[in-house]
Amino acid sequence: MEFFQCIEGRRSYRAFLEKDVDRAVLKKVMGAANRSPSYRNSQPWEVFIVAGEKRDRLAERLTRAAISGETPSSALPTPKEWPGALSKRMEEHTLLRLRAIGIDPDDEGKVRESGLRNYRFYDAPCAIFVGMHGPLAYWSVYDLGSFVHGILLSLEAQGLGGCPQASVTRYGNIIKEELSIPEEIEIIIAISVGYPDPDAPVNAYKSKRREEAEFVRWYGL
Ligand SMILES: Cc1cc2nc3c(=O)[nH]c(=O)nc-3n(C[C@H](O)[C@H](O)[C@H](O)COP(=O)(O)O)c2cc1C
Repeated sequence: MEFFQCIEGRRSYRAFLEKDVDRAVLKKVMGAANRSPSYRNSQPWEVFIVAGEKRDRLAERLTRAAISGETPSSALPTPKEWPGALSKRMEEHTLLRLRAIGIDPDDEGKVRESGLRNYRFYDAPCAIFVGMHGPLAYWSVYDLGSFVHGILLSLEAQGLGGCPQASVTRYGNIIKEELSIPEEIEIIIAISVGYPDPDAPVNAYKSKRREEAEFVRWYGL
């Protein structure tokens, strides 16, 4: 696949085919993401990949925790306030995404139900968790972002797709317990992975972006 086609075609997929993902394919994805740059080549990423019964059990526990309103144990704090422009874009995204799948944003029950799909990994056959050693360092979180983009692009290039999910890491304690992850590792992000369902309306939603002139300032060229 041509590079720019891959980067422009990628999106967050939220519906998947009932088709398993081969370990060999994911090994290739990991190899590519592992070439990501990192602060002084620290390579802070630690990866945990689940499928099959383990994945099902985890999805069940996470969904139960979300439904019962269990106290979250996220490694990263959520900002209390977002700058106005960002907040506006986030709200617009939520509205457009819900409308694309025929959900009225005022229908609290349906919105909640749709949110709960996060914890079932959007029915993807596989989930990847990316973590790093605590105490958390800003630069390492930055490095993980670049690593995760490497994963998402490598999936896209092979006809697979993923959805990065902060929501799932609200229950980092459950993920760590189920996968016997060492205490010193913090789970930063989850990625649902599978073969995207080409007929699912949710996958037809393509998020908007600002015009480049809105965020780039040029000096001397
Ligand atoms: C750090 C991070 C956390 C995210 N968390 C979630 C999430 O919990 N659930 C979800 O459905 N999408 C999540 N997303 C996906 C974003 O909503 C998505 O990337 C954004 O709307 C742009 O759309 P696109 O990825 O399709 O281009 C997350 C993305 C990032 C980078």
